[in-house]
Amino acid sequence: MKGIKVVGGVPLNGEVKIQGSKNAALPLMAAALLNKGTTILYDCPQIADVFVMEEILRLLGAKTVWNNHTLEINTEFIDKTQVDEEQGRKMRSSIILLGSLLGRFQEGAVPHPGGCVIGKRPIDLHLKALREMGAEISEIQGEIFAKTRGLRGSRIHFPFVSVGATQNAVLASVLAKGDTILEGCSREPEVCTLCRFLKKAGAKIEGIGTSRLMVTGVEKLHDVVFQVPKDRIAAGTYLCASAITRGQCVLLDAPVEEMEAVLLAYKKMGGQYTCNSGKLTLCSFHADKPLDNLQTQVYPGFPTDLQSVFMAALTVARGESRITENIFEDRFKTVPQLQAMGARIEMEGNTARILPGELTGTEVIASELRGGAALLVAGLAAKGETYVKNCSYIERGYEDICRDLCMLGAQIYRD
Ligand code: UD1
Repeated sequence: MKGIKVVGGVPLNGEVKIQGSKNAALPLMAAALLNKGTTILYDCPQIADVFVMEEILRLLGAKTVWNNHTLEINTEFIDKTQVDEEQGRKMRSSIILLGSLLGRFQEGAVPHPGGCVIGKRPIDLHLKALREMGAEISEIQGEIFAKTRGLRGSRIHFPFVSVGATQNAVLASVLAKGDTILEGCSREPEVCTLCRFLKKAGAKIEGIGTSRLMVTGVEKLHDVVFQVPKDRIAAGTYLCASAITRGQCVLLDAPVEEMEAVLLAYKKMGGQYTCNSGKLTLCSFHADKPLDNLQTQVYPGFPTDLQSVFMAALTVARGESRITENIFEDRFKTVPQLQAMGARIEMEGNTARILPGELTGTEVIASELRGGAALLVAGLAAKGETYVKNCSYIERGYEDICRDLCMLGAQIYRD
């Protein structure tokens, strides 16, 4: 069980480069399956979830090569359509392989997906979309089998927004026969990125960035070289690290255009910032104000992935904050750990009341990716030493959070 030690009380000061986005890279890797050829992804983050997706593709028969942060995927000789059970269960994103496998091979199988423990996380919308496009789907002993005599364009309405289900439906539709109209789609940047990637590879997609996507099926895709965007959640995490220590940090290549809601919350906390050609300069000397009503929402609202990290930062604000979680019902798993560090948090349904207080370092345990990062952020402001156990969760999404926080001057050490 890997752990990270943080010595608190040091205002952060320095520059850090933001990594490529996990949530953008994973669907692009799944999309690589649709083209019988080569996909090259620049700036692909070297994180556990990407390695799991790489292993899944390799076990299907793909060839992959890393050159620094460039990942080349060749899917010419894929000879299997059943995703490896052990690897597939490690990560919820494996479900989006079903859309690609059906699109290219008319069949596919994935284990019921795993992923972070942040709620029930059903996959009904994914299966609904694929069924409406002509897939026959059955679940046998925890494995989902899908086959089709050819996917056909269809009109699909999502009753509520799902990032993954939108991506799965887009992946399935690009090689389907005819037009697919997807309504109620996610507008998250990672959906737009997937659509832009597919267009570059020859797909026909309109409505990118809106909740209505129109896809006209094409015969095949072609090779593509694509830049993975920067990680807005990693950038938001380091923004909170700056805020909680009242530091002064520069985030290089931060995707500021995707961070409007996050920067607004930071500003309301008293943080100041300037952005200049991708360089986000933060001055957090006065970032000590509470937030009276932070609500997680689908994009362009405030992202659920930064809820726990902001909660950590608000535990030392000078007044009472309230955060409401509207996306995942079980995303307050980190609260007892923050309380163990002295945070004064009271839960009322899906709303957390965060009362002003002080943090003291102690041993805590990460139980999911972003919650684990939140504990490290809390440790930066805690008196004494914080030891966060179970850090393999954090490595699923952050390439090297210790290196990055060290660049900002934190005293942080890995076991
Ligand atoms: C993606 C992100 C995750 C982020 C989430 C919301 C990746 C790899 N993960 O997850 O980091 O927190 O978007 O921005 O990109 N739902 C259903 N049925 C379904 C699908 C979803 O009920 O078939 C529910 C979920 O339980 C949840 C909500 O819809 O309550 C949103 O989930 P969704 O947008 O699908 O999240 P993911 O794509 O899994």
